Amino acid sequence: MHAPIILGIETSCDETAAAVFRGHELIHHITATQLVHTSYGGVVPEYASREHNKLLGPVVGGVLEQCGLSLADVEAIAVTQGPGLAGSLLVGLSYAKGLALGLDVPLYGINHIEGHIFANFIGQKKLPTPFLCLLVSGGHTQLIHVESSRDYKLIGQTRDDAAGEAFDKVARLLGIGYPGGPLIDRLSQAGNPVFHHFSRSLFPGSYDFSFSGLKTNVLQYISKQEPAFIKSHLADIAASFQEAVVDVLSTRTMQVAKDLGHDRIVMAGGVAANSRLRKRLQELTQSEGKELFQPDLRYCTDNAAMIAYLGYWKIKDGAPDQLDIAAIPNLKLSFGG
Ligand code: KG4
Ligand code: ZN
Repeated sequence: MHAPIILGIETSCDETAAAVFRGHELIHHITATQLVHTSYGGVVPEYASREHNKLLGPVVGGVLEQCGLSLADVEAIAVTQGPGLAGSLLVGLSYAKGLALGLDVPLYGINHIEGHIFANFIGQKKLPTPFLCLLVSGGHTQLIHVESSRDYKLIGQTRDDAAGEAFDKVARLLGIGYPGGPLIDRLSQAGNPVFHHFSRSLFPGSYDFSFSGLKTNVLQYISKQEPAFIKSHLADIAASFQEAVVDVLSTRTMQVAKDLGHDRIVMAGGVAANSRLRKRLQELTQSEGKELFQPDLRYCTDNAAMIAYLGYWKIKDGAPDQLDIAAIPNLKLSFGG
């Protein structure tokens, strides 16, 4: 079969990204992280869409140039359809539709969450399904049984904050900055993870998660301390918080794997970049003889390689989308029985 040149476009949040694949093989990708949000302590949706508008043309042009290709070589376009910020998704989707129409090539709308899950297998022609996926990002904390690239079953999920959201909120409480996850991860390397025992919520009889109690627990703890104490123990507090999150995520994942008889575990989403979580799951899966997939760090956080790669699977599997597909800010994975 001819391996088509696929252009992937991702603009769901604050990364403007493009990637080029030849069939299942990644040729090149670019991720431009928007810096305008840093001083606001979080993503400002209006600024995010304006930045996408500004950056998308140069990012797409840049990635094609790096590949020694031009727009005329593009044979299919894969673009994030949701979930994400409405304005940001619209910029990417409108741009992709314009290109598809102008170049007369097929358009494929991609679910960003599926992108995160299958980012583990970028470059591979075969998917090692079934597996248990721990999806941990800024908006999701879910354990999913993945039977195939179209067949998912939700096993457990957060009842309140997502794990990444907890990292970002606690980083704000500690005055560390934004985005919180990578900063807490880095700071924790110099800290003591058993300096303070923060609360861990595990619901008996359910595989669900909860992180809002932990966040409140950190808030209560630091509000009782002197500023000088917090300053001198910032790394210890960060490491102790991170340990609580990692404990809950890894314990639950291993429990579900045992109960449901999964021998293959896949990590996905921004928090899958967390060094402590990666290490803990490596240790646990190794000691229990299970196989662990961790996405390459470049593909943990938002990127277009995962979008173009899913484009490859969609081209193989089915018909393209119509040019009138809508951006779906709350797009979910469709869970079967
Ligand atoms: O998957 P992602 O890039 O965007 C969403 O689709 O949500 O995930 C972003 C989240 C943020 O909350 C960020 O703080 C978190 O992933 N994150 C991390 C790390 N790197 C990114 N959390 C913990 N440790 C990290 N190293
Ligand atoms: Zn994401």
